[in-house]
Amino acid sequence: MTNQEAVGKTADFIKKKFTADTTGHDWWHMYRVWQLSKYIAKKEKGADFLVMELAALLHDIADFKFHGGDLEAGPKAARKWLQSLKVDEKTISHVEDIVRNISFKSADVKQNLQTLEGQIVHDADKLDAMGAIGIARLFTFGGAHGRLVYDPNQQHLGNYTYELAKQQNTSAVHHFYEKLLHLKNRMYTKAGKQIAAHRHKYMEDFLQEFYKEWDGER
Ligand code: ADP
Ligand code: NI
Repeated sequence: MTNQEAVGKTADFIKKKFTADTTGHDWWHMYRVWQLSKYIAKKEKGADFLVMELAALLHDIADFKFHGGDLEAGPKAARKWLQSLKVDEKTISHVEDIVRNISFKSADVKQNLQTLEGQIVHDADKLDAMGAIGIARLFTFGGAHGRLVYDPNQQHLGNYTYELAKQQNTSAVHHFYEKLLHLKNRMYTKAGKQIAAHRHKYMEDFLQEFYKEWDGER
């Protein structure tokens, strides 16, 4: 099987599996991460496109949050799929490693992606939680999980920990402070940093407007 065929079959597999997903990990999230990873990889140069494209498509194949906290569910599912395609072991273990290390846990837990391919997919994934799309995903997730749009009586928890985030039912807007506004400083690649700066500013402007409108200003 050629590299192109392996990527194509993986895209078809993920598209089928996630078309109807409403957890924030629908097919179009994987699609955007895949496209943005390719864009960043072209700017950064030197990435192994097979590893990078497979990891972009498979990075959310079995999120631990929806598998009883099992951190190995994702890497295992990615390996199983790639073995069924007879992809070589070196590529499989690299993709598996990226899937294992990519998920954002909390502002106090830093991700550790050592390879260029992992760093590219990481940046593309986090960029998809920022900007206009990030804002749309945040409120969709909030609604699906029964959260208020905003609650001014809840404190902004800038130093949120993973444990606290699991325990508390804060408003959707709080998620900006738990996660979205931290992402700019977690980018690895130069291209990722540039896109993040733009998307960060867009979210700051959004929040400024949001609070103005909240208090009846026109
Ligand atoms: P990642 O792929 O980085 O691990 P998540 O699975 O944590 O991302 O989140 C998927 C999407 O849902 C993201 O856009 C994220 O911002 C959003 N999301 C996650 N948790 C919350 C929350 N508590 N409130 C609002 N949106 C959330
Ligand atoms: Ni993702």
